[in-house]
Amino acid sequence: MAQPTHVLAIDQGTTSTRTIAFDAQARPVATAQREFAQHYPQGGWVEHDPEDIWRDTLATLREAIAGSGVAADRFAAMGITNQRETVVVWDRETGAPIHRAIVWQDRRTAQTCADLHAAGHEALVSARTGLLLDPYFSATKVAWILDNVKGARARAEAGDLAFGTIDSFLLWRLTGGKAHATDVTNAGRTLLFDIHAQRWDEDLCALFRVPMAMLPAVHDNSHLFGTTAEGLLDAPIPIAGMAGDQQAALFGQACFEPGMAKSTYGTGCFMLLNTGSEAIASKHRLLTTPAYRLGGRMTYAVEGSIFVAGAAIKWLRDGIGVIDSASDTARLAESVGDDHGVTLVPAFVGLGAPHWDPDARGAIFGLTLDAGKAHITRATLESVAFQTMDLVEAMVADGADDLGAIRVDGGMAANDWLCQFLADILGVEVERPANIETTALGAAFLAGLATGFWADLDALSATWRCSRRFSPAMPAERRARLREGWRAAVAKTRTTAR
Ligand code: G3P
Repeated sequence: MAQPTHVLAIDQGTTSTRTIAFDAQARPVATAQREFAQHYPQGGWVEHDPEDIWRDTLATLREAIAGSGVAADRFAAMGITNQRETVVVWDRETGAPIHRAIVWQDRRTAQTCADLHAAGHEALVSARTGLLLDPYFSATKVAWILDNVKGARARAEAGDLAFGTIDSFLLWRLTGGKAHATDVTNAGRTLLFDIHAQRWDEDLCALFRVPMAMLPAVHDNSHLFGTTAEGLLDAPIPIAGMAGDQQAALFGQACFEPGMAKSTYGTGCFMLLNTGSEAIASKHRLLTTPAYRLGGRMTYAVEGSIFVAGAAIKWLRDGIGVIDSASDTARLAESVGDDHGVTLVPAFVGLGAPHWDPDARGAIFGLTLDAGKAHITRATLESVAFQTMDLVEAMVADGADDLGAIRVDGGMAANDWLCQFLADILGVEVERPANIETTALGAAFLAGLATGFWADLDALSATWRCSRRFSPAMPAERRARLREGWRAAVAKTRTTAR
């Protein structure tokens, strides 16, 4: 067999699918990316067509391999990372999904979650899963499909249907239906997986009415999950890494020590703090989540999940047309004075951590006749930083040591204005790595580790490079004033106070 020289990573996100080929120094050598359709059948509902996702996955895989100029048999392995919580239910016989994927942002099961909360189930759910009763997670979405597609529940109970998050669905398709599996990080977002015992939980499956017969096997993140089916690519490639995208970004940022944190600015923003082998329960409505499991040893993280970050920039561009491109935002933000007085709360799909208010909706406060697109753009960028501030404060209130620095990544991390405002408002150093596509890199690392392409975590850490560091420069008094303005706006937007 030819000596492997590269690794592939599939990064299946909320709005686009991409594949990146990396060399042994963890440098991206080829990228292929496609955006795909979002479906909004009703207010608060968000769906994807799994066939679009599969089509784009295969196309970007083939394109990235061709673009790299590397023969398919020179890839040591591929990793998969994915938008988390989004659910697909498919027929085991035909491989065909029985419904569109219900996306993590979808709020259709808000009432089910409120009912379970009112019935007093949240304490048990949190104790076992580290999560909360919110429609964000998978279980209530799976039950919705089983209740709304004719005959589905009986077929699921008979073992004829399979459930998976996007990673499992892609694995199934890539292996030609041979593997039905997931990893601990994706399983840990379903509300069905006991993150301490590290297995599917019978009581939770009964509570959420999800038959255990439809669940995938759960493995370490670095594991030989399967091999691509004959004929799919020019040579079969092992699929040896899998992780939810936020955990993959933590891994790609080489946050391997307890106390290290990263914040990823994609569609949403997700901040994860490595807590080592200890699963720390939050008292401030953050989540406890598997960070990665290697060789059977689990590392946990505390997570703050914000549903809207880049999605708000997309709304500025595609929804209300105040910008032509995301790259306009820094210039517009700069053109407005510090005390512009406009606050935007981007609760387009409710509020995530630490508020967990699925019924809240977006709002803009402080508009005057001289407010224009620059004000709204700046308020949108600021809202992303303010939400991160809420997460950091919750982490500190939970007893995390004051964070010396956070590592940022994702598309919005390219925005210098945002990174500086973030450092100012958080009062911590913000470090931006040379490669801000750390999600894909994390999946590549996991696959490369499993196959010996990279030796160990030290070898991975050695590839991490800081390209720019942003230091806090805002006077404390101004920070406090801005913080109060944000707080007041969020309070006016809230609909519940759980
Ligand atoms: O939990 C949802 C998250 O995994 C989505 O990530 O990158 O599509 O914002 P992203």
